[in-house]
Amino acid sequence: MITIKQLKDHKDENVTLKGWIYNIRNSKALHFLELRDGSGLCQCVVSLDEVGEDIFEAAGSLKQESSVEISGNVIEDERSIGGYEVHVTDLKVVQIAENYPITPKEHGVEFLMENRHLWLRSQRQWAAMRVRNQIIFAIHTFFQNRGFVQMDSPIFTGNAAEGSTTLFETDYFDEKAYLAQTGQLYGEAMAMAHGLIYTFGPTFRAEKSKTRRHLTEFWMIEPEMAYYDLGMNMDLAEDMLKAIVADVLEKNRTELEILERDTSSLEKVAEKPFERMTYSEAVEKLKSDETAALLDEMEKSRKQELSDIKKEREEIKKEHGSAKKWRKAQIDQRIKEISARIDQIEEDLRNIPSWKTSARNFEWGNDFGGSDETVLMMQFDVPLIVTHWPVEIKAFYMKRDETDELALGMDILAPEGYGEIVGGSQREDDLETLERRIEEEGLDKNVFEWYLDLRRYGSVPHSGYGLGLERTVAWICGLSHVRETIPFPRMMGRLRP
Ligand code: 4AD
Ligand code: MG
Repeated sequence: MITIKQLKDHKDENVTLKGWIYNIRNSKALHFLELRDGSGLCQCVVSLDEVGEDIFEAAGSLKQESSVEISGNVIEDERSIGGYEVHVTDLKVVQIAENYPITPKEHGVEFLMENRHLWLRSQRQWAAMRVRNQIIFAIHTFFQNRGFVQMDSPIFTGNAAEGSTTLFETDYFDEKAYLAQTGQLYGEAMAMAHGLIYTFGPTFRAEKSKTRRHLTEFWMIEPEMAYYDLGMNMDLAEDMLKAIVADVLEKNRTELEILERDTSSLEKVAEKPFERMTYSEAVEKLKSDETAALLDEMEKSRKQELSDIKKEREEIKKEHGSAKKWRKAQIDQRIKEISARIDQIEEDLRNIPSWKTSARNFEWGNDFGGSDETVLMMQFDVPLIVTHWPVEIKAFYMKRDETDELALGMDILAPEGYGEIVGGSQREDDLETLERRIEEEGLDKNVFEWYLDLRRYGSVPHSGYGLGLERTVAWICGLSHVRETIPFPRMMGRLRP
Protein backbone atom coordinates (compact mmCIF):
# COMPACT_ATOMS: atom_id res chain seq x y z
CA MET A 1 0.00 0.00 0.00
CA ILE A 2 1.14 3.57 -0.70
CA THR A 3 -0.42 6.95 -0.01
CA ILE A 4 -1.72 9.45 -2.54
CA LYS A 5 1.10 11.81 -1.69
CA GLN A 6 3.57 9.13 -2.83
CA LEU A 7 1.95 8.62 -6.25
CA LYS A 8 4.63 10.73 -7.95
CA ASP A 9 7.27 8.15 -7.01
CA HIS A 10 5.27 5.29 -8.57
CA LYS A 11 4.62 6.50 -12.10
CA ASP A 12 3.40 3.72 -14.40
CA GLU A 13 3.36 1.17 -11.55
CA ASN A 14 0.39 -0.75 -10.23
CA VAL A 15 -0.29 0.43 -6.65
CA THR A 16 -2.86 -0.04 -3.91
CA LEU A 17 -4.49 2.91 -2.13
CA LYS A 18 -6.77 2.77 0.90
CA GLY A 19 -9.14 5.60 1.59
CA TRP A 20 -12.56 7.16 1.27
CA ILE A 21 -14.68 8.33 -1.65
CA TYR A 22 -14.68 12.11 -1.75
CA ASN A 23 -16.78 12.54 -4.86
CA ILE A 24 -18.21 10.41 -7.68
CA ARG A 25 -19.23 10.98 -11.26
CA ASN A 26 -20.77 8.08 -13.11
CA SER A 27 -21.32 7.42 -16.79
CA LYS A 28 -22.30 4.34 -18.77
CA ALA A 29 -18.87 2.84 -19.16
CA LEU A 30 -16.75 4.94 -16.76
CA HIS A 31 -16.87 5.87 -13.07
CA PHE A 32 -14.72 8.73 -11.87
CA LEU A 33 -13.96 8.26 -8.19
CA GLU A 34 -12.26 11.05 -6.31
CA LEU A 35 -10.39 9.25 -3.56
CA ARG A 36 -8.96 10.81 -0.41
CA ASP A 37 -6.69 8.95 1.97
CA GLY A 38 -5.63 11.66 4.41
CA SER A 39 -2.46 12.42 2.50
CA GLY A 40 -4.20 13.93 -0.51
CA LEU A 41 -6.82 13.56 -3.23
CA CYS A 42 -6.64 11.75 -6.56
CA GLN A 43 -8.94 10.76 -9.35
CA CYS A 44 -9.42 7.04 -9.93
CA VAL A 45 -10.97 6.00 -13.22
CA VAL A 46 -12.94 2.76 -13.33
CA SER A 47 -13.61 1.53 -16.85
CA LEU A 48 -16.07 -1.28 -17.56
CA ASP A 49 -13.76 -2.70 -20.22
CA GLU A 50 -10.84 -2.78 -17.81
CA VAL A 51 -12.39 -4.26 -14.65
CA GLY A 52 -15.38 -6.30 -15.81
CA GLU A 53 -18.99 -6.08 -14.68
CA ASP A 54 -18.74 -7.05 -10.99
CA ILE A 55 -16.15 -4.50 -10.01
CA PHE A 56 -17.72 -1.90 -12.26
CA GLU A 57 -21.03 -2.39 -10.49
CA ALA A 58 -19.40 -2.30 -7.05
CA ALA A 59 -17.77 1.00 -7.98
CA GLY A 60 -21.15 2.29 -9.17
CA SER A 61 -22.75 1.47 -5.82
CA LEU A 62 -20.28 3.60 -3.85
CA LYS A 63 -21.52 6.68 -2.10
CA GLN A 64 -19.72 9.70 -0.71
CA GLU A 65 -17.36 8.74 2.17
CA SER A 66 -17.62 4.99 1.54
CA SER A 67 -14.32 3.34 2.45
CA VAL A 68 -12.45 1.43 -0.27
CA GLU A 69 -9.22 -0.24 -1.25
CA ILE A 70 -8.26 0.53 -4.81
CA SER A 71 -5.53 -0.95 -6.99
CA GLY A 72 -4.57 0.58 -10.28
CA ASN A 73 -1.95 1.96 -12.62
CA VAL A 74 -0.47 5.37 -11.91
CA ILE A 75 -0.70 7.63 -14.95
CA GLU A 76 0.79 11.09 -15.10
CA ASP A 77 -1.88 13.60 -16.10
CA GLU A 78 -1.40 17.33 -15.69
CA ARG A 79 -5.10 18.10 -15.70
CA SER A 80 -5.79 15.75 -12.82
CA ILE A 81 -5.74 16.94 -9.20
CA GLY A 82 -2.25 16.33 -7.88
CA GLY A 83 -0.96 15.64 -11.41
CA TYR A 84 -1.61 11.87 -11.34
CA GLU A 85 -4.56 9.64 -12.09
CA VAL A 86 -5.12 5.99 -11.18
CA HIS A 87 -6.59 3.66 -13.76
CA VAL A 88 -8.32 1.09 -11.61
CA THR A 89 -7.61 -2.62 -11.97
CA ASP A 90 -9.21 -3.82 -8.74
CA LEU A 91 -11.48 -2.43 -6.06
CA LYS A 92 -12.58 -3.72 -2.64
CA VAL A 93 -15.38 -2.09 -0.73
CA VAL A 94 -14.62 -1.79 3.01
CA GLN A 95 -17.90 -0.12 3.94
CA ILE A 96 -20.70 1.56 2.03
CA ALA A 97 -21.35 4.80 3.86
CA GLU A 98 -24.82 5.93 4.87
CA ASN A 99 -26.06 9.13 3.26
CA TYR A 100 -23.33 11.58 4.20
CA PRO A 101 -24.66 14.78 5.76
CA ILE A 102 -22.02 17.09 4.28
CA THR A 103 -22.58 17.23 0.54
CA PRO A 104 -20.72 19.36 -2.02
CA LYS A 105 -23.56 21.88 -1.89
CA GLU A 106 -23.26 24.82 0.48
CA HIS A 107 -23.99 24.37 4.19
CA GLY A 108 -24.44 26.95 6.93
CA VAL A 109 -21.60 27.30 9.36
CA GLU A 110 -23.72 26.21 12.37
CA PHE A 111 -24.54 22.95 10.62
CA LEU A 112 -20.89 22.40 9.79
CA MET A 113 -19.87 23.13 13.39
CA GLU A 114 -22.39 20.57 14.64
CA ASN A 115 -20.71 18.12 12.29
CA ARG A 116 -17.17 19.21 13.03
CA HIS A 117 -16.13 15.55 13.50
CA LEU A 118 -17.01 14.97 9.82
CA TRP A 119 -16.31 18.47 8.51
CA LEU A 120 -12.62 17.85 9.27
CA ARG A 121 -12.58 15.57 6.22
CA SER A 122 -13.44 18.40 3.81
CA GLN A 123 -10.65 19.76 1.66
CA ARG A 124 -10.34 23.25 3.11
CA GLN A 125 -10.45 21.95 6.66
CA TRP A 126 -7.91 19.31 5.78
CA ALA A 127 -5.62 21.95 4.28
CA ALA A 128 -5.90 24.24 7.32
CA MET A 129 -4.98 21.41 9.71
CA ARG A 130 -1.95 20.55 7.59
CA VAL A 131 -0.79 24.15 7.77
CA ARG A 132 -1.38 24.14 11.54
CA ASN A 133 0.77 21.05 11.80
CA GLN A 134 3.56 22.68 9.79
CA ILE A 135 3.40 25.84 11.90
CA ILE A 136 3.79 23.75 15.06
CA PHE A 137 6.74 21.91 13.57
CA ALA A 138 8.33 25.18 12.42
CA ILE A 139 7.99 26.67 15.91
CA HIS A 140 9.68 23.70 17.56
CA THR A 141 12.43 23.71 14.92
CA PHE A 142 13.01 27.43 15.35
CA PHE A 143 13.43 27.27 19.12
CA GLN A 144 15.25 23.95 19.28
CA ASN A 145 17.80 25.20 16.72
CA ARG A 146 18.48 28.16 18.98
CA GLY A 147 19.11 26.11 22.11
CA PHE A 148 15.73 26.67 23.77
CA VAL A 149 14.41 23.92 26.03
CA GLN A 150 10.73 23.07 25.75
CA MET A 151 9.18 22.82 29.21
CA ASP A 152 5.62 22.34 30.33
CA SER A 153 3.74 24.59 32.71
CA PRO A 154 0.83 23.36 34.84
CA ILE A 155 -2.77 23.68 33.68
CA PHE A 156 -4.29 23.64 37.18
CA THR A 157 -3.11 26.84 38.79
CA GLY A 158 -3.73 28.62 42.07
CA ASN A 159 -3.85 32.20 40.80
CA ALA A 160 -4.76 34.51 37.95
CA ALA A 161 -1.98 35.87 35.76
CA GLU A 162 -3.82 37.74 33.02
CA GLY A 163 -6.67 39.42 34.89
CA SER A 164 -9.40 37.79 36.93
CA THR A 165 -12.29 38.34 34.52
CA THR A 166 -11.52 35.45 32.22
CA LEU A 167 -10.75 32.73 34.76
CA PHE A 168 -12.24 29.27 34.55
CA GLU A 169 -12.67 28.08 38.08
CA THR A 170 -12.73 24.45 39.10
CA ASP A 171 -12.83 22.43 42.28
CA TYR A 172 -9.47 20.98 43.28
CA PHE A 173 -10.08 18.70 46.28
CA ASP A 174 -12.11 21.35 48.07
CA GLU A 175 -9.72 24.08 47.05
CA LYS A 176 -10.31 26.58 44.24
CA ALA A 177 -8.16 26.07 41.19
CA TYR A 178 -8.10 27.88 37.88
CA LEU A 179 -7.31 26.65 34.41
CA ALA A 180 -4.12 28.35 33.25
CA GLN A 181 -4.58 31.55 31.22
CA THR A 182 -0.86 31.53 30.49
CA GLY A 183 2.21 29.51 31.41
CA GLN A 184 4.33 32.63 31.71
CA LEU A 185 4.95 32.90 35.45
CA TYR A 186 6.13 29.29 35.51
CA GLY A 187 8.08 29.98 32.33
CA GLU A 188 10.00 32.68 34.20
CA ALA A 189 10.97 30.19 36.90
CA MET A 190 12.08 27.68 34.28
CA ALA A 191 14.11 30.32 32.41
CA MET A 192 16.03 31.02 35.63
CA ALA A 193 16.95 27.32 35.62
CA HIS A 194 17.66 26.85 31.90
CA GLY A 195 18.25 30.30 30.43
CA LEU A 196 16.16 29.88 27.29
CA ILE A 197 12.88 27.98 27.46
CA TYR A 198 9.53 27.82 25.73
CA THR A 199 6.23 26.34 26.72
CA PHE A 200 3.74 25.03 24.20
CA GLY A 201 0.41 24.16 25.65
CA PRO A 202 -3.31 24.78 25.93
CA THR A 203 -4.48 27.89 27.76
CA PHE A 204 -7.97 28.81 28.88
CA ARG A 205 -9.92 32.02 29.06
CA ALA A 206 -13.57 32.46 29.88
CA GLU A 207 -14.10 34.90 27.01
CA LYS A 208 -17.73 35.89 27.12
CA SER A 209 -17.63 37.52 23.71
CA LYS A 210 -18.29 35.85 20.41
CA THR A 211 -15.68 37.26 18.07
CA ARG A 212 -13.76 35.71 15.23
CA ARG A 213 -10.54 35.98 17.22
CA HIS A 214 -11.51 34.45 20.55
CA LEU A 215 -11.56 30.86 21.74
CA THR A 216 -12.01 29.73 25.33
CA GLU A 217 -9.34 27.05 24.85
CA PHE A 218 -6.38 27.94 22.67
CA TRP A 219 -2.76 26.96 22.31
CA MET A 220 0.00 29.32 23.20
CA ILE A 221 3.74 29.24 22.63
CA GLU A 222 5.58 31.17 25.32
CA PRO A 223 9.33 31.61 25.10
CA GLU A 224 11.01 33.12 28.15
CA MET A 225 14.60 34.30 28.07
CA ALA A 226 16.99 35.22 30.88
CA TYR A 227 19.14 38.29 30.18
CA TYR A 228 16.87 39.46 27.30
CA ASP A 229 15.61 43.03 27.15
CA LEU A 230 12.64 44.33 25.18
CA GLY A 231 14.68 44.87 22.01
CA MET A 232 16.03 41.32 22.00
CA ASN A 233 12.53 40.06 22.70
CA MET A 234 11.17 41.88 19.63
CA ASP A 235 13.99 40.62 17.41
CA LEU A 236 13.37 37.05 18.48
CA ALA A 237 9.63 37.27 17.83
CA GLU A 238 10.21 38.80 14.42
CA ASP A 239 12.72 36.11 13.46
CA MET A 240 10.32 33.42 14.67
CA LEU A 241 7.36 34.72 12.65
CA LYS A 242 9.52 35.05 9.54
CA ALA A 243 10.78 31.50 9.97
CA ILE A 244 7.24 30.14 10.39
CA VAL A 245 5.92 31.93 7.31
CA ALA A 246 8.91 30.93 5.18
CA ASP A 247 8.52 27.30 6.22
CA VAL A 248 4.80 27.20 5.39
CA LEU A 249 5.45 28.85 2.03
CA GLU A 250 8.01 26.18 1.28
CA LYS A 251 6.16 23.11 2.54
CA ASN A 252 2.45 23.89 2.13
CA ARG A 253 2.04 25.13 -1.44
CA THR A 254 -0.78 22.64 -2.13
CA GLU A 255 -2.63 23.52 1.06
CA LEU A 256 -2.33 27.27 0.48
CA GLU A 257 -3.70 26.74 -3.01
CA ILE A 258 -6.68 24.80 -1.69
CA LEU A 259 -7.27 27.62 0.78
CA GLU A 260 -6.95 30.12 -2.09
CA ARG A 261 -4.46 32.07 0.00
CA ASP A 262 -2.81 35.03 -1.66
CA THR A 263 0.80 34.02 -1.04
CA SER A 264 2.36 37.26 -2.23
CA SER A 265 1.38 38.94 1.03
CA LEU A 266 3.02 36.10 3.00
CA GLU A 267 6.17 36.40 0.92
CA LYS A 268 6.49 40.03 1.96
CA VAL A 269 6.30 38.99 5.61
CA ALA A 270 9.08 36.46 5.14
CA GLU A 271 11.35 39.03 3.49
CA LYS A 272 10.67 42.58 4.68
CA PRO A 273 11.54 43.96 8.13
CA PHE A 274 8.53 44.37 10.42
CA GLU A 275 7.17 47.80 11.29
CA ARG A 276 7.85 49.03 14.82
CA MET A 277 6.30 51.93 16.71
CA THR A 278 5.35 52.96 20.21
CA TYR A 279 1.78 52.89 21.43
CA SER A 280 1.69 56.71 21.31
CA GLU A 281 2.84 56.73 17.71
CA ALA A 282 0.24 54.11 16.86
CA VAL A 283 -2.49 56.21 18.47
CA GLU A 284 -1.38 59.23 16.45
CA LYS A 285 -1.44 57.17 13.29
CA LEU A 286 -4.92 55.90 14.07
CA LYS A 287 -6.25 59.43 14.58
CA SER A 288 -4.47 60.88 11.55
CA ASP A 289 -5.95 62.43 8.40
CA GLU A 290 -4.02 59.83 6.49
CA THR A 291 -6.03 57.05 8.14
CA ALA A 292 -9.30 58.88 7.56
CA ALA A 293 -8.38 59.29 3.89
CA LEU A 294 -7.56 55.59 3.61
CA LEU A 295 -10.96 54.69 5.02
CA ASP A 296 -12.68 57.07 2.59
CA GLU A 297 -10.81 55.46 -0.24
CA MET A 298 -11.71 52.00 0.99
CA GLU A 299 -15.37 52.95 1.15
CA LYS A 300 -15.28 54.29 -2.39
CA SER A 301 -13.54 51.26 -3.85
CA ARG A 302 -15.85 48.84 -2.00
CA LYS A 303 -18.90 50.62 -3.41
CA GLN A 304 -17.43 50.44 -6.90
CA GLU A 305 -16.63 46.73 -6.51
CA LEU A 306 -20.11 46.06 -5.23
CA SER A 307 -21.76 47.61 -8.23
CA ASP A 308 -19.33 45.82 -10.59
CA ILE A 309 -19.91 42.33 -9.26
CA LYS A 310 -23.65 42.86 -9.01
CA LYS A 311 -23.57 43.69 -12.72
CA GLU A 312 -21.50 40.59 -13.41
CA ARG A 313 -24.00 38.49 -11.49
CA GLU A 314 -26.92 39.80 -13.56
CA GLU A 315 -25.07 39.04 -16.77
CA ILE A 316 -24.09 35.47 -15.98
CA LYS A 317 -27.56 34.79 -14.59
CA LYS A 318 -28.94 35.70 -18.03
CA GLU A 319 -26.48 33.32 -19.64
CA HIS A 320 -27.43 30.47 -17.29
CA GLY A 321 -30.67 29.46 -19.04
CA SER A 322 -29.11 28.52 -22.35
CA ALA A 323 -25.68 27.43 -21.07
CA LYS A 324 -24.23 23.94 -21.50
CA LYS A 325 -24.09 21.72 -18.41
CA TRP A 326 -20.40 22.33 -17.64
CA ARG A 327 -20.85 26.08 -18.07
CA LYS A 328 -23.92 26.05 -15.78
CA ALA A 329 -21.77 24.47 -13.07
CA GLN A 330 -19.15 27.18 -13.59
CA ILE A 331 -21.79 29.90 -13.37
CA ASP A 332 -23.28 28.42 -10.19
CA GLN A 333 -19.83 28.37 -8.64
CA ARG A 334 -19.15 31.98 -9.62
CA ILE A 335 -22.53 33.09 -8.28
CA LYS A 336 -21.69 31.46 -4.96
CA GLU A 337 -18.37 33.31 -4.87
CA ILE A 338 -20.06 36.59 -5.75
CA SER A 339 -22.67 36.18 -3.02
CA ALA A 340 -19.97 35.55 -0.44
CA ARG A 341 -18.03 38.58 -1.61
CA ILE A 342 -21.16 40.75 -1.56
CA ASP A 343 -21.80 39.75 2.05
CA GLN A 344 -18.23 40.68 2.90
CA ILE A 345 -18.41 44.04 1.14
CA GLU A 346 -21.76 44.91 2.67
CA GLU A 347 -20.38 44.11 6.10
CA ASP A 348 -17.38 46.36 5.44
CA LEU A 349 -19.64 49.15 4.22
CA ARG A 350 -21.75 48.87 7.36
CA ASN A 351 -18.58 48.98 9.49
CA ILE A 352 -16.55 51.71 7.84
CA PRO A 353 -18.47 54.69 9.32
CA SER A 354 -18.02 53.42 12.88
CA TRP A 355 -14.39 52.52 12.19
CA LYS A 356 -13.88 56.09 11.06
CA THR A 357 -15.32 57.68 14.19
CA SER A 358 -13.69 55.16 16.49
CA ALA A 359 -10.26 55.80 14.93
CA ARG A 360 -10.64 59.57 14.89
CA ASN A 361 -11.89 59.77 18.48
CA PHE A 362 -9.53 57.19 19.96
CA GLU A 363 -8.29 58.31 23.35
CA TRP A 364 -4.74 57.79 24.53
CA GLY A 365 -4.80 55.26 27.36
CA ASN A 366 -7.40 52.93 25.88
CA ASP A 367 -6.64 49.50 24.56
CA PHE A 368 -7.04 48.96 20.82
CA GLY A 369 -10.21 47.17 19.89
CA GLY A 370 -10.41 44.65 17.06
CA SER A 371 -11.53 47.30 14.57
CA ASP A 372 -8.81 49.74 15.65
CA GLU A 373 -6.26 47.03 14.97
CA THR A 374 -7.78 46.38 11.57
CA VAL A 375 -7.77 50.06 10.64
CA LEU A 376 -4.22 50.58 11.92
CA MET A 377 -3.00 47.62 9.90
CA MET A 378 -4.58 48.84 6.66
CA GLN A 379 -1.45 50.89 6.15
CA PHE A 380 1.05 48.05 6.51
CA ASP A 381 1.74 44.88 4.59
CA VAL A 382 3.98 43.33 7.27
CA PRO A 383 3.35 42.78 10.99
CA LEU A 384 3.55 45.80 13.29
CA ILE A 385 5.26 45.63 16.70
CA VAL A 386 3.74 48.11 19.15
CA THR A 387 5.75 48.91 22.30
CA HIS A 388 5.63 51.20 25.36
CA TRP A 389 2.03 50.85 26.50
CA PRO A 390 0.14 52.81 29.15
CA VAL A 391 0.65 50.82 32.35
CA GLU A 392 -3.08 50.82 33.17
CA ILE A 393 -3.91 48.48 30.31
CA LYS A 394 -1.03 46.07 30.79
CA ALA A 395 -0.30 43.30 33.29
CA PHE A 396 1.34 43.82 36.69
CA TYR A 397 4.46 41.84 35.82
CA MET A 398 5.65 44.15 33.03
CA LYS A 399 8.73 46.29 33.61
CA ARG A 400 8.20 50.02 33.14
CA ASP A 401 10.31 52.67 31.43
CA GLU A 402 12.01 55.52 33.32
CA THR A 403 8.80 57.59 33.43
CA ASP A 404 7.02 54.78 35.29
CA GLU A 405 4.02 55.48 33.03
CA LEU A 406 4.80 53.18 30.15
CA ALA A 407 5.07 49.41 30.30
CA LEU A 408 7.83 47.73 28.30
CA GLY A 409 5.29 45.53 26.59
CA MET A 410 5.10 44.58 22.96
CA ASP A 411 2.15 43.42 20.93
CA ILE A 412 2.54 42.18 17.40
CA LEU A 413 -0.35 42.86 15.04
CA ALA A 414 -0.69 40.73 11.92
CA PRO A 415 -1.49 42.40 8.60
CA GLU A 416 -4.70 41.93 6.60
CA GLY A 417 -6.99 42.52 9.56
CA TYR A 418 -5.93 39.57 11.71
CA GLY A 419 -5.08 41.66 14.74
CA GLU A 420 -2.90 40.82 17.73
CA ILE A 421 -1.07 37.52 17.44
CA VAL A 422 1.72 38.10 19.97
CA GLY A 423 1.68 39.70 23.40
CA GLY A 424 4.84 39.99 25.46
CA SER A 425 7.12 42.18 27.54
CA GLN A 426 10.26 42.67 29.49
CA ARG A 427 9.46 41.54 33.05
CA GLU A 428 9.76 43.54 36.25
CA ASP A 429 12.86 42.10 37.91
CA ASP A 430 13.03 44.29 41.04
CA LEU A 431 11.61 42.68 44.18
CA GLU A 432 10.22 45.77 45.89
CA THR A 433 8.68 47.20 42.74
CA LEU A 434 6.97 43.92 41.99
CA GLU A 435 5.70 43.59 45.57
CA ARG A 436 4.21 47.05 45.29
CA ARG A 437 2.55 46.21 41.98
CA ILE A 438 0.94 43.09 43.37
CA GLU A 439 -0.42 45.13 46.23
CA GLU A 440 -1.69 47.93 43.97
CA GLU A 441 -3.50 45.40 41.80
CA GLY A 442 -5.20 43.97 44.86
CA LEU A 443 -3.71 40.54 44.24
CA ASP A 444 -3.10 38.06 47.04
CA LYS A 445 0.63 38.32 47.77
CA ASN A 446 0.75 34.89 49.39
CA VAL A 447 0.05 33.02 46.19
CA PHE A 448 2.82 34.97 44.44
CA GLU A 449 5.55 34.33 47.03
CA TRP A 450 7.16 31.65 44.87
CA TYR A 451 7.14 34.08 41.92
CA LEU A 452 8.72 36.78 44.08
CA ASP A 453 11.48 34.30 45.00
CA LEU A 454 12.69 34.63 41.41
CA ARG A 455 13.47 38.27 42.30
CA ARG A 456 15.12 37.28 45.58
CA TYR A 457 17.57 34.73 44.30
CA GLY A 458 19.65 35.95 41.40
CA SER A 459 17.16 38.25 39.73
CA VAL A 460 18.14 39.19 36.16
CA PRO A 461 16.58 41.24 33.37
CA HIS A 462 14.39 38.87 31.39
CA SER A 463 11.70 38.89 28.75
CA GLY A 464 9.26 36.71 26.90
CA TYR A 465 6.10 36.63 24.86
CA GLY A 466 3.12 34.51 23.98
CA LEU A 467 2.17 33.59 20.42
CA GLY A 468 -1.46 32.57 19.91
CA LEU A 469 -1.37 29.51 17.67
CA GLU A 470 -4.94 29.72 16.34
CA ARG A 471 -4.72 33.38 15.39
CA THR A 472 -1.46 32.64 13.64
CA VAL A 473 -3.05 29.76 11.72
CA ALA A 474 -6.03 31.96 10.78
CA TRP A 475 -3.73 34.66 9.45
CA ILE A 476 -1.38 32.38 7.52
CA CYS A 477 -4.27 30.37 6.05
CA GLY A 478 -6.36 33.49 5.36
CA LEU A 479 -9.30 32.14 7.40
CA SER A 480 -11.78 34.69 8.64
CA HIS A 481 -12.59 32.92 11.94
CA VAL A 482 -10.44 31.02 14.46
CA ARG A 483 -13.06 28.26 14.70
CA GLU A 484 -11.55 26.64 11.59
CA THR A 485 -7.98 26.69 12.90
CA ILE A 486 -8.25 23.99 15.59
CA PRO A 487 -9.74 20.49 15.24
CA PHE A 488 -12.44 20.93 17.89
CA PRO A 489 -12.89 24.61 18.77
CA ARG A 490 -14.14 25.63 22.20
CA MET A 491 -15.96 28.95 22.31
CA MET A 492 -18.78 30.46 24.24
CA GLY A 493 -21.79 28.34 23.27
CA ARG A 494 -19.70 25.58 21.74
CA LEU A 495 -18.69 22.54 23.82
CA ARG A 496 -19.65 19.74 21.41
CA PRO A 497 -18.67 17.76 19.42
O1 4AD B 1 -1.51 38.95 25.12
P1 4AD B 1 -1.73 37.74 25.98
O2 4AD B 1 -2.86 37.78 26.94
O3 4AD B 1 -0.33 37.51 26.71
C1 4AD B 1 -0.09 36.60 27.69
O4 4AD B 1 -0.84 35.74 28.06
C2 4AD B 1 1.33 36.67 28.20
N1 4AD B 1 1.36 36.02 29.50
C3 4AD B 1 2.24 35.99 27.21
C4 4AD B 1 3.67 36.04 27.62
O5 4AD B 1 4.24 37.12 27.70
N2 4AD B 1 4.28 34.89 27.88
O6 4AD B 1 -1.92 36.48 25.04
C5 4AD B 1 -0.92 36.13 24.11
C6 4AD B 1 -1.54 35.77 22.77
C7 4AD B 1 -2.36 36.87 22.13
O7 4AD B 1 -1.54 37.78 21.44
C8 4AD B 1 -3.25 36.08 21.20
O8 4AD B 1 -2.57 35.73 20.02
C9 4AD B 1 -3.51 34.83 21.99
O9 4AD B 1 -2.49 34.70 22.93
N3 4AD B 1 -4.82 34.87 22.66
C10 4AD B 1 -5.92 34.23 22.22
N4 4AD B 1 -6.13 33.45 21.15
C11 4AD B 1 -7.37 32.92 20.97
N5 4AD B 1 -8.39 33.12 21.83
C12 4AD B 1 -8.22 33.90 22.92
N6 4AD B 1 -9.24 34.07 23.77
C13 4AD B 1 -6.95 34.50 23.16
N7 4AD B 1 -6.43 35.29 24.12
C14 4AD B 1 -5.14 35.51 23.79
MG1 MG C 1 -2.50 40.72 24.66
